[in-house]
This record gives sequence, structure tokens and C-alpha cells, in this order.
Amino acid sequence: MNRVVINLEALQHNIRVIDGWMKAHNATWTLVTKVLCGHADTLHALQTIGVRSMADSRLANLQMIERIVPDFESWYLRLPHMPAIDRVVELADVSLNTEIETIDALNEAAKKRDLIHRVVIMIELGDLREGILPGTLVDFYKHAFNLSNIEVLGVGANLGCLSGAVPTIDQLMQLVLYRELLELKFERKLPMISGGSSSVLPILLDGRMPKQVNHFRIGEAAFLGTDLINGGTMSGLRSDAFTLETEVVEIKEKGLVPLAETTTMTPFQTMDQEEFEPGARGYRALVTMGQLDTDMTGLRPLNSNYVVAGASSDVSVINVGNNPEGLRIGDTIKFRPSYGALVRLMLGPYVEKVVTPPIDSYRKDFNQDMEVEVPPVVPVEDEETQDLKQERVEAKDE
Ligand SMILES: Cc1ncc(COP(=O)(O)O)c(C=O)c1O
Repeated sequence: MNRVVINLEALQHNIRVIDGWMKAHNATWTLVTKVLCGHADTLHALQTIGVRSMADSRLANLQMIERIVPDFESWYLRLPHMPAIDRVVELADVSLNTEIETIDALNEAAKKRDLIHRVVIMIELGDLREGILPGTLVDFYKHAFNLSNIEVLGVGANLGCLSGAVPTIDQLMQLVLYRELLELKFERKLPMISGGSSSVLPILLDGRMPKQVNHFRIGEAAFLGTDLINGGTMSGLRSDAFTLETEVVEIKEKGLVPLAETTTMTPFQTMDQEEFEPGARGYRALVTMGQLDTDMTGLRPLNSNYVVAGASSDVSVINVGNNPEGLRIGDTIKFRPSYGALVRLMLGPYVEKVVTPPIDSYRKDFNQDMEVEVPPVVPVEDEETQDLKQERVEAKDE
């Protein structure tokens, strides 16, 4: 049977370690949960571990999290789009923003509900995804500061998510300076510099992170342990929280080089092929997992002698050499997924997801000393917002 197995001990370990790094820097952080696609048992585990600040880019996921972790602080990561403005205000305590029009609309929606919506304004620092241009900073903040139902928490940036631009100290220092400039200009405090994602962790760890950068939004490193700058796994983190298990449905010794002429006109991109001598033979295992389920190029077999030779929509071929493990039909081939492969697996309806240990025993046996405090970054104090949250939780319980 194909399934994703989620190792809760490994996840708990990574969250504890990252939390230690954050506390050592006097920073707060928010766990980016989008890769879970609202997976209930894993969210229950996060609740048990003590994570109370979570960010997601899908409103449906935030809604799911709220059902499971009613007292969590909810961050909407993707820039709000107009048709969703009311839902963003309803479901998120904080959103990231770069457009005046959108913040105006959030303000109107928050006014209607008589609550305060919090925003972090993202500044473009070189990844060329979201962000206002530094030249427009003063006018932008001036406008946002004048909105009655918007609280501007501070400045933020997203580095390394789109173009893979490696974050630098200069960019982080720019954020610090922009905050200083805004505070001086408007004579008000901006409490937060939300300095980025997993890709800035190496800078934090080698002690070069400016101390003023006091908030991080962390996803991939927590779930997969990935070092997004140097490759491999970050020292101290575990890479074994997620394993994909696939079932072998055919295993035969065959030729390894197609006999016919080949073309690239295949429905899915062909994979990089291993070099074989003409006539070479080896065992090929077929597994019932394909491009429809995940990004097959993002799967690394646990057995380092195996190679994913190719994948169509529903079936993939794994070269297993001379079959040293004696694989037979019904046996399992295991993989570590990349983040891109994992998110598609978690989203897909065809692949089962299971946590280990089972969630009930994990919760029962959870050692309270292992609890991690990842509290809300901005405790919500206004009564209207608290009441609204309470109402939503009660409505769900009915
Ligand atoms: C705005 C924003 N912040 C933080 C993150 C987290 O990135 P990572 O998973 O690399 O830590 C993402 C991506 O998921 C994002 O889009």
C-alpha cells in the first residue's frame, strides 16, 4: 500500500531544536504549516507539542487548524486576493501585504466586524516575489498607519522562495534600517522585523543575524530539516520526519536501455537517465505511484543503490540493480520526499497519510517536559477579536 508515514518524534525534535535557536536569538517564530495541507493528526501533534503560532497560504487549512488548535494565532501567508478579503479578516490574525488597495479592503472588512486586523508589510529585497519597492516605503506606511482597523506590526521580507536568491546580511540589515527610518519618520514603534524563512537559518546559526530581526516564518526546515543554502540537512535537525512507502507491483530483470528510438514527446518530462552500456540488464521494480501523485523527480530512494528510472501518471519504474534485497511483489520501496514532492503527496487524495506513533498514543504518552512553547507572536488583546474567535470555535463545536 502506498502511504506517507509521518514520524512525530522527528517532527517534535525539529520543532524543539528550532525553538531553541529562536530563543537564543530572543526571537519569536511562526510555524509554516502549508505542507501539511490541513492533515488532522499532524495538527493534533503540533497542538500537543505546544505550537500556537501557525501560518498557512490556504484559508481552508487555517480553518482546519482552528478546529484542532482553537487558541492558535493564525497567519495568512499568501498575499490576500480581493474575493477572499472577508475570509482573511475572519480567519487570520495577521496577514502579509504589499498593496495599498488590499490593505484598504482589509481595513473595511475589519471595520465591519469591529476588530483590528494586523499586517506585516513585505519589502522587496531581491527574491523578486512579493514586496513593496523601498522607494515607496514612506508613502505606503503613511497610508497604512492612518487606517482605523489595521495595526501595522512591522516590516518583513521573503528571501530565497522563488528565485533561490541566497539571503545576505546586507539584505537583513536593510530591513533593520528601513524599520529605523520608518520609526523616526512617523515617531512610532514598529515591533516586528519578520526576517524570513528557513533559508535564513544558516545566517542565524552562524551568529550573523542582526539582533533586531526578531521574527521568523519557518516551514521546510522544521518538517524536513533541509539546509536551503548549503544543501543536505541542517546540523541538529532530522530529515526523517516524512517517509513515502510505495508498493511493488512488478519486478523483473529487463534490459535497461530502450531498444527503440526515443523521443521527448512524452506526457511527462523524461527523467535524467543513468548511462548504461547497450544490452545492459538489471531488475526493474514498478511501483503504483506516479506524476499524478507527486513530483517523482523529488523522491530519493532510502536505498541509495536504487534509482527512479522514469514515471508516468500512475506508475513509476525503479532500477534496483541486481535486487540485493530480494524485492518481491507486495514489498515496499521507501523514499524521502523533497518539499515539493511532499506537498503534492499531502494534498493528493490517493495516498494514505499515517502518523507514527498513532495520535492517541502519542498524546497519551507525551512527556510534558518535552512541551515547546511557540506562543502567539502578538497576543490578541482587543475583546472583539477574542469574541469572534470564541464564537467561531463554539460554532464548530455544535
Ligand atoms: C511568505 C513566506 N514566508 C515563509 C515561508 C516558509 O518558507 P520555508 O518553508 O522555506 O521555511 C514561505 C513559504 O512557504 C512563504 O511563502
